[in-house]
Amino acid sequence: MTKTSMKLFRESLSRCKKRSDFIDQFYDRFLAASNDIKAKFVKTNFSTQKIKLLKSLEMTVLALEGVPHALHELEERAIRHNRENLDIRPELYDFWRESLLQTVVVCDEQYDKEVEQAWREATNFIVNMMVVRY
Ligand code: HEM
Repeated sequence: MTKTSMKLFRESLSRCKKRSDFIDQFYDRFLAASNDIKAKFVKTNFSTQKIKLLKSLEMTVLALEGVPHALHELEERAIRHNRENLDIRPELYDFWRESLLQTVVVCDEQYDKEVEQAWREATNFIVNMMVVRY
């Protein structure tokens, strides 16, 4: 990922975070996207889950910059989602990425093609990390 893309992703994420409904909107879309996904979250406490996901996105910014503890944390996250643990099948990650991107369209008033591309690269990085450890 180029420095320019990383900067676009970081700045877009920080604009999205200023909207108090950013993560709510994401989970609304994500849970509606597939019954398999909805089923995974039946016992979840969403008030804490939403904070955890936001933290993971912030961690991604650092991981993309190569900060070792951030990479390590994402790796642990990937293991938590693998077949022995939460068992999140690789194809489900498309829903994750698309739900997030649709939410950014609505939440970032500076959204454009370059911002979209930056989010695609950043989310591909995360998804790839999860999928190879499945
Ligand atoms: C298809 C995609 C995904 C599904 C279906 C999914 C599902 C889940 C489920 C069921 C949990 C457990 C919730 C609970 O405690 O009840 C969870 C936890 C979590 N997920 Fe995901 N997840 C997905 C993708 C991701 C991605 C891409 C990230 C970001 C890197 C992420 C970050 C987290 C975090 C931070 C937690 C909390 C971990 C913990 O408490 O140990 N998830 N996820």
